[in-house]
Parts: sequence; structure tokens; C-alpha cells
Amino acid sequence: MKMKKIMRLLFIAVMIIGCSSSDGGPSGPIVGGPTGGGGNGGGGNGGGSTTEYLKDHANFSIGNIVSAFKLASSSSDNTQMKTILLDEYTSITAENDMKANNMFTGPTSYDWSDGDAIVAYAKANGLRVHGHALAWHNQQPGWFNTFSGTNEEFETAVMDYITAAVAHFAEEKDSNGNSIVASWDVFNEAFDPNASSNVLFTKIDDVVAKCFTAARAGDPNIKLFYNDYNIAGDPNKRNNIINMVNDLVSRSIPIDGIGMQMHLNHDWPTSDLPTAIQDIANTGLLVHVSELDIKANFNSDVSELTAARAQAQADQYQNAAYYYTTIVPTAQQHGITVWGFRDQDSWLYDGNTDWPLLYDNNFDPKPAYDGFVEGLKGNAVN
Ligand code: G3I
Repeated sequence: MKMKKIMRLLFIAVMIIGCSSSDGGPSGPIVGGPTGGGGNGGGGNGGGSTTEYLKDHANFSIGNIVSAFKLASSSSDNTQMKTILLDEYTSITAENDMKANNMFTGPTSYDWSDGDAIVAYAKANGLRVHGHALAWHNQQPGWFNTFSGTNEEFETAVMDYITAAVAHFAEEKDSNGNSIVASWDVFNEAFDPNASSNVLFTKIDDVVAKCFTAARAGDPNIKLFYNDYNIAGDPNKRNNIINMVNDLVSRSIPIDGIGMQMHLNHDWPTSDLPTAIQDIANTGLLVHVSELDIKANFNSDVSELTAARAQAQADQYQNAAYYYTTIVPTAQQHGITVWGFRDQDSWLYDGNTDWPLLYDNNFDPKPAYDGFVEGLKGNAVN
């Protein structure tokens, strides 16, 4: 069994024994620890004196996704997930809980409770939170479609919500006085084919710019991102996004960064991956790889994750981490966020027909993990 896995199982066993004993158990996660040397296929530093985790290989934040439900759960799976989270990662994004359908309950009513629970967990465990996502044509409140007020009233409701959300989640600070929620995806996927016919666009003129202005009204320091998919892999879309962002900047609209979601395939994109990262870095804004996962079976041409396909996926994880690490100037590196832990937790999971993440269904690191580590270390695929 891999050394990291043994350490984590030991930790969970100690937690369980500790919780059931009267003298109290360990109060925090075990970070690092001895390794048994070689044969550590889990991305550790076989032969070294300490176990290294993803966060140890990067000078920027390494994130993954959470839900308030999973963070509160003490099931074996969620306990294991949280152990890995605290070992490996420094940043969290709410997969769904901080989207408008969950928080924007009525034109003037908000429910921050799930986000508050996530922020409390982050604060207690020294994690950064990246807020996701304030305005999106998907996962919208049901009342958007039944709202009977004027367009002006709808716009006021949306902008007030964005300002209120940013202000509310800016309140919890770390020991340095920085907000736990350091950044927000203010606008998500404006270039999706379904976006322009959505109420956000049909009822609000110049909606993207107005959302960023409303977000800045909530707090002067939180980093504000535009977030989209296929920025790498679709040069036309990328150019449209860059043109939009440059237009926002030229109008002094407050935008700090661009989120490249990076839902990739094992063999796509190829040369456009470094080109895209370079193009986005050239804007001078912060760059966040915000939703990294890599499909290993996009064409449904394999029935299991073969060794060859696992290696191809590992190489693509290495490419993504390597190009980000080596191309994006340090001051613009907002971090890399992976979109899930186990393969079966992925939004792409459909009965074991793809395996897009770093850990298998037993939480064991896959070759993808090793590739990701190599890329973070600045090593290119041979
Ligand atoms: O909460 C309901 C539950 O009450 C209901 O019983 C169940 C039945 O299907 O659905 C649950 O909601 C689901 C929700 O995830 C929470 O699990 C939705 O159906 C499902 O559509 C939703 O999927 C999320 C998806 O965004 C929505 O578009 C995925 O978890 C989430 O990973 C995914 O994330 C997006 C990013 O936010 C933006 N970029 C693309 C990325 C992948 O699609």
C-alpha cells in the first residue's frame, strides 16, 4: 500500500479512536510525516525524510472543490476527503453552494448559510476561499423566470445581490487581516451559446461590466475574475474573451483576473495549451486555472482506464501544470484549482465511463497525480 495512503488511514484511525475516548484526540491534521522511501507511487518524494504534498510543489495556491454538506459530514469517505484536502491543498472553491440558485433566494433576500459554513471551515483550517460564481446563465434562482417587475427593477436586484454577496463574504478575515474569500468569479461563461438569450443579457444592458462594478462596490480589495471554458483549445473564443476584457479595462471597469476553467481531454488541446496560457498572461491580469480536470475517454474508445491512457492523461496534467508554472509570471499566478477529488465525484462521472481526476475511487493517487506534481515542479513532459 502506498505510504501516503497508510499515513492517511492511520490518521483517520487515530481520529476515530480519539473521538471515542474521553481524554480527547488530536486536534488537527497531520501535515507531512516520515516516508518509507522508494515505491511511493502516490507522488511522494520516495527516499526523502518527509512526505510532500501538492501544495509543497507550488509557490501559488493549489485548490479543490468542496460543499458545506461534505465538510460537515463525518462519513468515512468525507473524512478521507477532508484529510486529503488539508494535506494537499491551500484553497477551496464551492462546487455549487455559492452559486445564485442557492444564495439568491428572492429579489431582496439572500441565504449565505452554506457559504458561511465553508468560510468558517476555511478559516479554522488556514485555507483560502475562491468564490464561485456570482452571475451565470446556468444554476439561476427559479424566481428569475417568474419575476414580474421591470427590467430596471431586475437589474437593481441582481446588482444589489452581487454587491451584498461580495461585502458579506469579505467580512471574515485571516490573522493578517485579509478576507478568507480572497476572490470571486464575478461573471461566468458569457460566451456560452446559451448565454445571450438568458435574462441576464436580455434584461440588463452591458451586464458583464455592470456586474464587475457592483462586485467592486462590495469590497475594494477582493480580486474579481471573469471565468470561462475552452479558453485553451478555442482560439476564436479566447480572442473574443481577451477583447472583452481589454474593453472592460479600457473603460476602467474593475476586473483583476481571468479564470481558465481547463476542462481538457487527454489529447486536447496540444500546442494551443501554452499559446492560450501565454495569451491570457499577456493581458497582465491574474490568471487562475479554475476548474482543472482532464477527460481520459472523451471519444468513448476505451472501456477501462488503460495504462497507456492513464499515462496520456498524466502527461496532459503535467502539461497544464508545467505551462502554468513556467509561463505565467509569478505576480499573476492566482493558483490552480482541481475540479474534484475521486473520479466518481466528478461532474463528468457517468457510471465509470471516464476517469478525469487525480485520485481513483479509493482516493489513491493516479498517474495523473504524479504528472501534475512533475508539472508543478517545472518539469516538461519528455
Ligand atoms: O441539488 C440537487 C438535488 O436536490 C437534486 O435531487 C439533484 C437531482 O439531479 O440535483 C441536485 O443538483 C445538482 C447539482 O449539481 C448539485 O449536485 C444538479 O442537478 C447538477 O446539474 C449540478 O451540476 C453542477 C454543474 O456545475 C451545474 O451546471 C456540478 O455539480 C458542478 O461541478 C458544475 O460545475 C461547473 C462550474 O460551476 C462552471 N463551469 C463548468 C462546471 C462543470 O459543469
